[in-house]
Amino acid sequence: MKKYNITIVGAGSSRTPALIGSIVDYKDKFPIQKIIFYDIDPERMGKMQAYISLVLKKEMPTLEFVFTDDKSIAYCDCDAVLVQMRAGNSEMRSKDEKIPLKYGLVGQETCGPGGFAYGMRSIPAMIEMVNDIRKVNKNAWILNYTNPAAIVALALDKVFPNDTRILNLCDQPYSMMRSYAKILKKNQSDLRCKYFGLNHFGWFTDIYDINGKHYFEELKEYLKNNEFKPYNAEQRSQSWLETYKRVNKYLCYFPEYLPNTYLQYYFFPQEIVAESNPNYTRSDEARDSREKEIFELCSRAETEFTIETVPLLKGSVFGNLMIEVALSILEDLKDEFVLITRNQGLIPNISEDAMVELSGKLGANGLIVEPYGEISTFYKGLIENQHAYEKLTVEACLEHDYTKALKALTLNRTVIDPQLACKVLHDLEEANKDYWTLQHGK
Ligand code: G6P
Ligand code: MN
Repeated sequence: MKKYNITIVGAGSSRTPALIGSIVDYKDKFPIQKIIFYDIDPERMGKMQAYISLVLKKEMPTLEFVFTDDKSIAYCDCDAVLVQMRAGNSEMRSKDEKIPLKYGLVGQETCGPGGFAYGMRSIPAMIEMVNDIRKVNKNAWILNYTNPAAIVALALDKVFPNDTRILNLCDQPYSMMRSYAKILKKNQSDLRCKYFGLNHFGWFTDIYDINGKHYFEELKEYLKNNEFKPYNAEQRSQSWLETYKRVNKYLCYFPEYLPNTYLQYYFFPQEIVAESNPNYTRSDEARDSREKEIFELCSRAETEFTIETVPLLKGSVFGNLMIEVALSILEDLKDEFVLITRNQGLIPNISEDAMVELSGKLGANGLIVEPYGEISTFYKGLIENQHAYEKLTVEACLEHDYTKALKALTLNRTVIDPQLACKVLHDLEEANKDYWTLQHGK
């Protein structure tokens, strides 16, 4: 049986322990020889090192693993690179969320002006990483979870159009499917879906099981009458619970399809801004809940030097999706996922170059997607507008073009007003000086 080498980029992320939990969970199906943990910030990664080492030594004693901040070691000898970097760390996420709120605009990690600023930081970092990998390794699969995945995917497709081994991933459709499975009292692995859109901007249009029985109407009926709760509601913070509830609200207006939760920012921006606390946003909430918990576990493992008393983090949608996707490719399983891919006629009445999110099968030759077919005017209008925003963002970044940045933000449904776009862009430029600059009057 072939054994694989995996590299984890951004290994200092607070998501890494859960990813390790999934690797342990799948160890009998997914034979791994070696894991390389790579991060440009060895101090941050160092905080997790004891926990990760103790878990792996206990659960997978024959596995080799190294921690490094040296990219010449990271990429040369691996079959898949799992990427989860955050250019600017949580400090910049916090600014992405707080600056727009000063102007009464949505302050969010991936949507609106915050997502724009984050995209402008992620694109150059991701391009550099793909170049570094391809210098030494032509064949490794690059499985990217770095956000905003919509913008990163579009930029990488433009810069590396012939690289067929780059795949951008998002766990939100997978996570929603897990919640639907719980409502329908089914196993997630038995459910399939039809889905279309852009990343963080899409809709479920059918849910059915492997025997071909459809549950979409039943599910919509349930959601019309019951509060939508994520499968792990007890562990979710208030803002996520409100996010799921807004799916119920959306259905009062447009009951046809089930929206991705991220559509709330485009459909209910004013309500979301009114509920936001400009001094305490999602990044603060995440730091004080999930991240705190994870860093505490890791530091306990370090000081007690044992894993016996420390719970193993397992079963995260992010970790499971990353591992299932990697496995499906490397072992050519052709399992079904909702993934991001170049449109090229899959939805024939929207831009060919859009990076669309659709369900398809994933194997050694990549994603095999059935053409989705035409979409109706409402969705076409929304998607073309969002695609134009994403495309101008990518161009603004690659060309350092201020005017394109201003046009991008004006197109964004959470902004619309060019005066506001101009103000928020000014502040984002100031805050991001170390990461990106734009040439005015271009
Ligand atoms: C979902 C999205 C990710 C996003 C994450 C943010 O999983 O699909 O793209 O990064 O939520 O979660 P957080 O809890 O950090 O706000
Ligand atoms: Mn996502």
